[in-house]
Amino acid sequence: MKVLITGGAGFIGSHVVDLVGQTGYEPVVVDNLSTGKREFIHPSYRLYEIDITSPFLKDVFKKEKPDVVIHLAAQVDVAFSIKDPVSDASQNILGTIHLLNCCQEFNVKKFIFSSSCAVYGEKDDVSIMETSPLQPLSYYGISKYTSELYIQTFNKLHQLPFTILRYANVYGPRQTPKGEGGVVSIFFNKTLKGESPIIFGDGGQTRDFVYVKDVALANLLSIHNGKNEIFNIGCNSKTSINELYNKIKNLSSKDVSAIYMPARDGDIRHSRLDINKASTILGWQPSFNLETGLVETLAYYQSK
Ligand SMILES: NC(=O)c1ccc[n+]([C@@H]2O[C@H](COP(=O)([O-])OP(=O)(O)OC[C@H]3O[C@@H](n4cnc5c(N)ncnc54)[C@H](O)[C@@H]3O)[C@@H](O)[C@H]2O)c1
Repeated sequence: MKVLITGGAGFIGSHVVDLVGQTGYEPVVVDNLSTGKREFIHPSYRLYEIDITSPFLKDVFKKEKPDVVIHLAAQVDVAFSIKDPVSDASQNILGTIHLLNCCQEFNVKKFIFSSSCAVYGEKDDVSIMETSPLQPLSYYGISKYTSELYIQTFNKLHQLPFTILRYANVYGPRQTPKGEGGVVSIFFNKTLKGESPIIFGDGGQTRDFVYVKDVALANLLSIHNGKNEIFNIGCNSKTSINELYNKIKNLSSKDVSAIYMPARDGDIRHSRLDINKASTILGWQPSFNLETGLVETLAYYQSK
């Protein structure tokens, strides 16, 4: 089975590529390398260095004829989306539509989409279910929500099967400091150098951190399971940014204090995902908790 992975040179995408390849499927990568890195992809896998909005994307589909598309390529910086909503929408919404058109034309059998908990917006301090109202607080969240609507409507009009995965805050090896879960990478990068990281707000805001290898597994399981369903992918756990920083400081054995700055626009106070649906229908459970995931992540940063 051939699996075309957009954004496969990125943080999460490169772990998806590894797992798809290890499972015996053939991964093919489409990535414009704007934030991704060629060295994250095993040299035996084909990489097309191309933008998902490019007219030449069609030639890749014509040549490769993928069975499944896993779509991770995106502008992932929430703050950038607020500064430049046109560019965000162009890559995240128009890019997704362009890809869906190619999938329809070349008879792709399954479309798997990386969405985000950013579609929910501000909720009380509860675990959020997939049925919760969607009220994004940023243009990035709107771009993910809109893409979900296009995917569902493409399915109704053209019967393109899909699975949508709404990730909590993903962390782990190969993460860049930008993007949604970038706080773990920023904290490790700073503390290991003995520098103070910045915490926006009072640090009491909480997040549900999920390890990147568990997210890759959710994508792999979606190849055969969860047809036309939406799943939360998180750990249903709650960690404040202050707690996270203390854990990272202790693991790194560095006693550096954080600097506090005012909260940023578009930042959510609490975010925690209910994952019962993914467990029941997708057959997915996280196998890493924050402690075990941070230990593997630290080993990666220390090896750099
Ligand atoms: N990291 C998180 O915590 C998190 C949370 C929720 C959702 N997501 C989603 O997961 C996906 C992967 O995110 P990530 O954290 O690995 O970010 P990333 O920046 O590491 O990966 C994105 C990849 O897409 C590529 N790319 C970007 N725009 C492109 C374009 N127009 N054409 C072709 N390639 C393009 C980049 O070069 C990069 O390799 C994204 O869709 C993101 O919105 C991430």
